[in-house]
Amino acid sequence: MGLTEPANNLPEDARRVREMFARISPRYDLLNHLLSGNIDKRWRRLVVRKLLPQLPPNAQVLDVACGTGDLSIEIFEATQARVIGLDFCRPMLELAQQKTREISFAEGDALRLPFADETFDLVTIGFGLRNLSSLESGLRELKRVLKQGGWAAVLEFSQPAVPGLRGFVAFYYARVLPRIGGWLSGSRGAYEYLPDSISKFPNQDELAQIMRDTGFDQVSFENLTGGVAALHVGQRKG
Ligand SMILES: C[S@@+](CC[C@H](N)C(=O)[O-])C[C@H]1O[C@@H](n2cnc3c(N)ncnc32)[C@H](O)[C@@H]1O
Repeated sequence: MGLTEPANNLPEDARRVREMFARISPRYDLLNHLLSGNIDKRWRRLVVRKLLPQLPPNAQVLDVACGTGDLSIEIFEATQARVIGLDFCRPMLELAQQKTREISFAEGDALRLPFADETFDLVTIGFGLRNLSSLESGLRELKRVLKQGGWAAVLEFSQPAVPGLRGFVAFYYARVLPRIGGWLSGSRGAYEYLPDSISKFPNQDELAQIMRDTGFDQVSFENLTGGVAALHVGQRKG
């Protein structure tokens, strides 16, 4: 692994999140693909397709809350850019590093990124922002480490835009996800936390506004699978 400083002095809620991901890490990939019917792979590919045209040659990319590395790997394979994946949960990072030697995986806190200002051309965060103790501080950190003109991409669960789909997803989150997730991971709590954290997360328009308030320009979003997830992008101008 690249930088291996464990993230210290974490608040209680962040420590709980880290322990939860450590517990479910051995089954994380399997459950992601199973519970989403493999749609999660398509969502990550879309991030790459959308951001690819924005990347300069020899781009430096940071994938925050990279977990087991699937988004970092997707970006590296499509661009050959220099990609660093960062997460505060070592067992997740170890699984990521087992998948590839081409990417540096670093241990660190998304709210105190161990990088200088204006280092990266692209910063991504996939299904991670929702888990941070402060969404606004997380976005400020993403912006701080971006070069001027660089782009941030936030892939996250969101609010389905279609009424029928909304009902189905609510049922799935309440009844199916905790049962299957709990059964296969041994941690039902983690799969109750997931829909709970999604319901507390801002919807598409709200998140876009928070990104603008944080100082991102050209903020826009795209609904994925009818808004079950959304991809927000924004550029650092100043
Ligand atoms: C749902 S997983 C997403 C992993 C990966 N990006 C993906 O698309 O599958 C969320 C990840 O965020 C990480 N995480 C949560 N809070 C963090 C923080 N403050 N700093 C770094 N990583 C964090 C967790 O350890 C976990 O690996």
